[in-house]
Amino acid sequence: MDSFELNKISAAVIIGILLYLAVDMAAESIYHVEELEKSAYVVEGLDTDTAEVVEVVVVEGPSLSELMATASADRGARVFRRCQACHNDASGAPNKVGPNLWGIMGHDRGAAEGFGYSAAFQGAGGTWSFENMDEYLASPAKAIPGNKMSFAGLRKEGERADIMAYMNSMSDAPISLP
Ligand code: HEC
Repeated sequence: MDSFELNKISAAVIIGILLYLAVDMAAESIYHVEELEKSAYVVEGLDTDTAEVVEVVVVEGPSLSELMATASADRGARVFRRCQACHNDASGAPNKVGPNLWGIMGHDRGAAEGFGYSAAFQGAGGTWSFENMDEYLASPAKAIPGNKMSFAGLRKEGERADIMAYMNSMSDAPISLP
């Protein structure tokens, strides 16, 4: 092996080392993560080293009874305009594309007289409570899979609370708040 060839080999080795260092430094500058000294969310009485902490923080929000305590039937009446293409809500008014919703809170589910419910709805059973109505209005398709109400849902929990306060007022027998 002559010295020219040896030079080539050592040059290759040096270039290799330099490349490695360059990539390492670049990665470090992109992915540098500072360890937190303390957990960002501290919940009393919980081991802060567990994933449990994050979960607890995510699910905390106003409860349904807190939401209903500040809900407004007047605001709900405005939200209900989005439902009126398919639903009447006056006493004795006819069904439209969807069933009449007079007195719906506390009523048996899927039981408006003369309305042809989907099989999914007929199997739903139970009565309408604030809890299951909240779930249904958030996402009709998820709450009762296969039901034929073509409505994406009300994403805002405050709007759902307002509309439930309104629907509860459109009744001979409003049910008590949760
Ligand atoms: C595009 C038409 C349409 C719109 C808009 C719509 N619905 Fe419906 N809704 C239906 C249909 C159809 C059903 C019956 C579903 C079935 O039989 O599967 C239904 C069923 C319901 C029921 C169950 C009634 C019962 O007798 O148990 C409730 C409650 C309800 N809708 C509330 C609402 C509210 C509140 C809104 C507005 C936020 C709304 N709907 C918007 C078509 C609609």
